[in-house]
Amino acid sequence: MDARPLILVSNRGPVGFVADEDGVLHAERSGGGLVTALTGLIDIVPAEWISAAIEPGDFRVAHDADGPFPIPDAGTSTTGRFVMIDPDVYERYYNVVANPMLWFIQHYLWDLSNVPDIREEELAAWHDGYLVANDLFADAVVESLAQNPGAVVMLHDYHLYTAPASIRARVPDAFLHFFVHIPWPQPDYWRVLPPHIRDAVLEGLLACDIVAFHTPRYARNFLLSCEDLLGLEVDYAALTVRFGGRTVAVRHYPISIDADGFTQMATGEAVQAEEAQFLRRRRRHLVVRVDRTDLSKNILRGFTAFDVFLDRHPEFREDITFFAMLQASRQDVPEYVEYVERITALVSMINTKHGNTDWMPIELRFESNLPLAITAYKHFDVMIVNSIFDGMNLVAKESMLVNERDGVLILSENVGAFEEIGAYALGVNPFDIEAQAEALHQALTMPYAERRARGDAIRTVINENDIAKWLQAQVADIEELRGQAVLPPGER
Ligand code: G6P
Repeated sequence: MDARPLILVSNRGPVGFVADEDGVLHAERSGGGLVTALTGLIDIVPAEWISAAIEPGDFRVAHDADGPFPIPDAGTSTTGRFVMIDPDVYERYYNVVANPMLWFIQHYLWDLSNVPDIREEELAAWHDGYLVANDLFADAVVESLAQNPGAVVMLHDYHLYTAPASIRARVPDAFLHFFVHIPWPQPDYWRVLPPHIRDAVLEGLLACDIVAFHTPRYARNFLLSCEDLLGLEVDYAALTVRFGGRTVAVRHYPISIDADGFTQMATGEAVQAEEAQFLRRRRRHLVVRVDRTDLSKNILRGFTAFDVFLDRHPEFREDITFFAMLQASRQDVPEYVEYVERITALVSMINTKHGNTDWMPIELRFESNLPLAITAYKHFDVMIVNSIFDGMNLVAKESMLVNERDGVLILSENVGAFEEIGAYALGVNPFDIEAQAEALHQALTMPYAERRARGDAIRTVINENDIAKWLQAQVADIEELRGQAVLPPGER
């Protein structure tokens, strides 16, 4: 087998293996923006994709392969490699440290007068969970580098902050690239973590050659954190930081979607199959949101704003529906279970208060159904993305791209996408319920010409800055810093 020029590393891999009734394993594509984006990359560059074995079938594949295995349907000769993590270690790494501890810090979600408490359990989860899992990922990378000498290593997301330092210690000349897909908060918020933990997070990342984020704001916060928390020498103009005798480049690349592919999907059979019924049910005005049930998505305030809007504007009664498709997420974390309960209770309160036997103001669906989500994207008048903080938010981009009703986007000023398309959306502060209620009214009464002009401007940005551009910009920076092409000559 030829050496692969790229090693991708992420907790969740491109496929999970699930056994059918006869025990035969089938590869199922994983969900989420990260996997979708990287799948675009392996269509272009052959890679080895290292990820955790998560499904029981993954462990069977890992045992049988004892190393790399072919990924079904991967565009190029990409292979997978599973990291087998003991379930107790995985529980601590994933359900105690990564989600919620790091996720909550990076989205400013902790209610600091009450939580978190850092006790023996959390400290042990760091030491015996997160660090152990990261070392296992590092082992797999080192093994893969031995078989793919000179490959560029691209690590992804908050699950893997300490792995780069372990890799660097063993392969000093490796080229390590790290992409953080979620916000990077301001330095003081990292002080929620004891110094040995927050220092290890930063020093792990600083073992890389490039640390990348979605927006200039996150890159700047990272540099500020290096300066404030570690006392390092930082160059804000050049976007670099000196650490351990090396210069680390801090970069920003706004992630996007496969604009052509997504547009095609919107006219496909699966979407058409949902459309007829969906359109039969629609009222004159349609408000939509599509989210994982993540606390960062600000789902409760979105519904409360709709409640306030209905109080203020009774003329819209029976003429409007708020369609919300929510995908249950991280139900092993207690805060997330409670969040789903609170959403259900709030929606039923609002529906009882305003609705009647003929009209249910909010249609709440707990499901993950891409064709139905795309159907809703095509037909909304108003799309709500009001996250508290959000790394990028691809729903904002996907939904505006395929909308056919000159729908208006209400967009939180704290999502990464705001820097690119916020000027053409109705920007809102995610905590300001009055402003969100007012934005709903403004969107629903906006002249069609203005709706169209705003939507077209957003579509132009999305078509120009699509996923290919996101990938190309990173590959170009890697090649420049490494002084060597990612793909060997003759294979470009
Ligand atoms: C979201 C985030 C990603 C993150 C992923 C993890 O999609 O935007 O940055 O990697 O969640 O999700 P998982 O289901 O694998 O925990």
